[in-house]
Amino acid sequence: MEGREQGEPGAQRGAPLIELVGVTKRFGGRPVLNGLDLAVARGEIFTLLGGSGSGKSVLLKHMVGLLRPDAGRIVIDGRDSARFRERDWVAARRRIAYVFQGAALFDSLSVKENIAYGLREHLALDEAGIDRRVAECLEAVGLAGIEARMPAELSGGMRKRVAVARAIALAPEVILYDEPTTGLDPANARRIGQLIVSLRRELDGTAVIVTHDLDLAFAISDRVGMLANGRLVAVGTCDEIRASRLPEVQEFLAGELEAPAARTGGA
Ligand SMILES: Nc1ncnc2c1ncn2[C@@H]1O[C@H](COP(=O)(O)OP(=O)(O)O)[C@@H](O)[C@H]1O
Ligand SMILES: [Mg+2]
Repeated sequence: MEGREQGEPGAQRGAPLIELVGVTKRFGGRPVLNGLDLAVARGEIFTLLGGSGSGKSVLLKHMVGLLRPDAGRIVIDGRDSARFRERDWVAARRRIAYVFQGAALFDSLSVKENIAYGLREHLALDEAGIDRRVAECLEAVGLAGIEARMPAELSGGMRKRVAVARAIALAPEVILYDEPTTGLDPANARRIGQLIVSLRRELDGTAVIVTHDLDLAFAISDRVGMLANGRLVAVGTCDEIRASRLPEVQEFLAGELEAPAARTGGA
């Protein structure tokens, strides 16, 4: 199908911001990613669909250098990361924020300190500056004023939004969202989807989402890719993916529509 062509319509916006070329990653000899190609264009919302264990989180971790490929290349803003030193990855991670699966807040730290963590590490802000930035980020995710709360006091939806507030603290160009709606009820899931769209607009940024939530994917994505057998078997607009005749895509779409409970299935 037409949608399998990489880079369109994203290519119209210029060179890819993050590109994976022939990436292979094995665990215990078994390839999880197997010659995978993917080009994320600047400014787009790209969503990667795939079943549990298909390698979605592994793929995202390659984009921030938390995992290194066994073969193939990760190219960030035109630079081959094979030549990166650790400090280049540190710099890249300031531009590419990663919202981990399951929020992953520091439970012993207040909401404020969770969000301030990266600010203290990277910026020479005084305490008033930190307070201001934390307040802005909480405001952006619709949670103004909860600085003093502890993560354990928050609902699942609020924890996810605090994780997003932490991710945007350093004004990243790209935000990677790992299963941002998993475990949320439909209303909270929709709120997260709206938040991703509004942040992309406000930061003039790029978003990569991995999920098996079809409602989210088809509501907000510019392009959708389908991960199966270690590769992107289909890439296209929402309409193109919905119309795909590929068995891997049809089976995935049918399975997720029949079993919306899978959305809360972790992984
Ligand atoms: N650090 C690791 N060591 C060994 N196996 C791993 C590691 N990370 C992921 N895997 C395996 O790779 C496969 C894909 O994992 P993952 O990317 O987390 O799947 P998902 O698509 O659900 O996010 C799984 O079989 C998982 O067990
Ligand atoms: Mg995962």
